[in-house]
Amino acid sequence: MSKLCRQYNQKSSSFKKALHQYTKEEVAKHTTDKDLWVIISGKVYNFSGYAKSHPGGADVFFDCAGKDATEIYEDSEHPAWVEGQMSFYLIGELTVEEPETT
Ligand code: HEM
Repeated sequence: MSKLCRQYNQKSSSFKKALHQYTKEEVAKHTTDKDLWVIISGKVYNFSGYAKSHPGGADVFFDCAGKDATEIYEDSEHPAWVEGQMSFYLIGELTVEEPETT
């Protein structure tokens, strides 16, 4: 490997994209069909405009809009390809809250 390649590899490995951090309060503001965010396993997904195309029905999205949908997502009988689609909707992760020190 050339020196240039090695430098490039070293650099690109440190370019791991950090996910944008959102608070639960921020996610909770996005609850309409056209502007709909959901939390699944600590990650934040933007499903704006998707509800009506969801093969499992739109209602489930309106029910969990702006909230943590981890349980309902994991309990649903999704075909394996759905997991592969999730990254297209990923916009960030939940801010890790500092434990209170009292
Ligand atoms: C917040 C995210 C999601 C939740 C909470 C959710 C929930 C559900 C639920 C409750 C069902 C009904 C089946 C059951 O009760 O087991 C379902 C079905 C389905 N969902 Fe989702 N879903 C989500 C995201 C997605 C995404 C992103 C896709 C595809 C890109 C997808 C594709 C499907 C498909 C294909 C079915 C039909 C499964 C079948 O009946 O064969 N879902 N989903």
